[in-house]
Amino acid sequence: MLRPATVIACFSALLSSALIPASAQVDGNKYDKVAAELASRYLKEGRETFRFDTFGSEDFWGGKLKLHQAIAGKANGGVGEGVSPKKALELGLKVDIDAIPADVAEALGRGEVDLADPASTLVLLKANAVVGVTGFFEGDRLSSIGIQCAMCHSTVDDAYAPGIGHRLDGWPNRDLNVGAIVAAAPDLSAFVDMLQIPEAEVRRAVEAWGPGKFDAELNLDGKAFRPDGKTAATLNPAAFGLAGVNNHTWTGSWGTVTYWNAYVGNLEMHGKGVFYDPRFDDAEKYPVAARTRQGHKQDKEDRITAKLPALHFYQLSLPTPQPPEGTFDAAAAEKGKALFNDKARCVTCHVPPIFTEPGWNLHTAEEIGIDDFQAKRAPDGRYVTTPLRALWNTEKIHKGGFYHDGRFATLDDVVKHYDDHLGLNLTEQEKGDLIEYLKSI
Ligand code: HEC
Ligand code: HEC
Repeated sequence: MLRPATVIACFSALLSSALIPASAQVDGNKYDKVAAELASRYLKEGRETFRFDTFGSEDFWGGKLKLHQAIAGKANGGVGEGVSPKKALELGLKVDIDAIPADVAEALGRGEVDLADPASTLVLLKANAVVGVTGFFEGDRLSSIGIQCAMCHSTVDDAYAPGIGHRLDGWPNRDLNVGAIVAAAPDLSAFVDMLQIPEAEVRRAVEAWGPGKFDAELNLDGKAFRPDGKTAATLNPAAFGLAGVNNHTWTGSWGTVTYWNAYVGNLEMHGKGVFYDPRFDDAEKYPVAARTRQGHKQDKEDRITAKLPALHFYQLSLPTPQPPEGTFDAAAAEKGKALFNDKARCVTCHVPPIFTEPGWNLHTAEEIGIDDFQAKRAPDGRYVTTPLRALWNTEKIHKGGFYHDGRFATLDDVVKHYDDHLGLNLTEQEKGDLIEYLKSI
């Protein structure tokens, strides 16, 4: 039993932690101390939200799409074949080894877990070990499914096996086939109603996304394909290295990181909350959003807004992974750096150390020599100067290529493009040196 004094101490500790921002006193040391405590609390809470908060999105992914039924399969009370761990890994989903209970991990090690059986997926979901996906259970029956930021913006280090390892938050999941996952849902009527196109068209649109890509504006403008017939989806970007960066996403001009977090939580993940953006009332530019009033979302329950401060803070704290030794030639990189900052003119847009412009970091499609389809979907009609981050890593972070749609498969292709477009006249030697520098960033 707790003694009264302990109870009072606990109660006041609770009270003070609940009141941290409001009780920050305006007196010297205390104010600084409270700021430091708040920072570490934001880091912890933001990580929880990023990894585990569904914002109530299970009412959409489970409740409407009935995706949980397709995952469980007929044998486990759902429909169809079900999704085995093997299939889930093929779809690009990742497994958090640290969440797997010891007995399951041991059984895995002994090869006793049948990775071809959807029932094993349910075991992993119950342990909360599938990165970015939360299963809701009634007894042993999977009754719903919700998603998190981590689904698209985390991967694992493959420490145990490909797709199974420790979490790497902020690393884009470039294996994840969101479109194939959505297409597997038994009920696509939510998309049919929103987009007002036949179900077969919804399926065709999402199946065209492919691995590592998602279309975060389809719900606004209904444009599933570009004029060249390719998917309108873009690559999942990294969510690390964003501190000090102004415009976000590939096209920017939406707002800051926290704008985008609210946007995604409400309109992409279909969590419960409040979202306001009167620009979406423009029926010509955003016909779907205007008709469905997405710029005026007012759910009765708000599970998102209170989480925005910590979520914002957490993402800005995520560091850019540095190149491991031996991934670039240091002497060549030194020469490449001089080129980057002078003859190749890269620095006019990619300003170190944030490698985007301090200020309004947007450019027209013509300035960078590409088509304007994706740019025109954003409020300002421009592309963000991508903050150059971890360009050395093409296994995970930049898997799928460079630029918003991965149109340049290699850094070699990127440099060739700039050489042509900007008329740089770089020699082969110079191009090579510049690439070594890019790999060192
Ligand atoms: C289904 C996949 C998916 C989910 C889930 C998702 N995102 Fe994203 N995220 C994307 C894609 C794709 C983009 C690029 C959008 C664009 O440019 O149009 C993006 C862009 C971003 C950016 C901008 C990055 C930059 O380089 O400027 C941030 C920040 C971000 N997301 C954070 C989040 C947070 C926080 C959550 C959870 C609340 C989340 N995302 C959920 C796919 C996803
Ligand atoms: C006029 C401004 C501008 C200049 C000059 C410029 N860039 Fe860029 N850079 C951009 C923009 C805008 C993008 C985003 C394009 C997209 O997403 O489609 C980009 C994207 C990139 C990317 C892809 C990053 C990623 O994560 O996919 C690389 C690499 C890059 N630039 C390198 C360079 C190099 C090297 C130079 C010099 C030769 C250079 N840039 C010059 C504006 C510029």
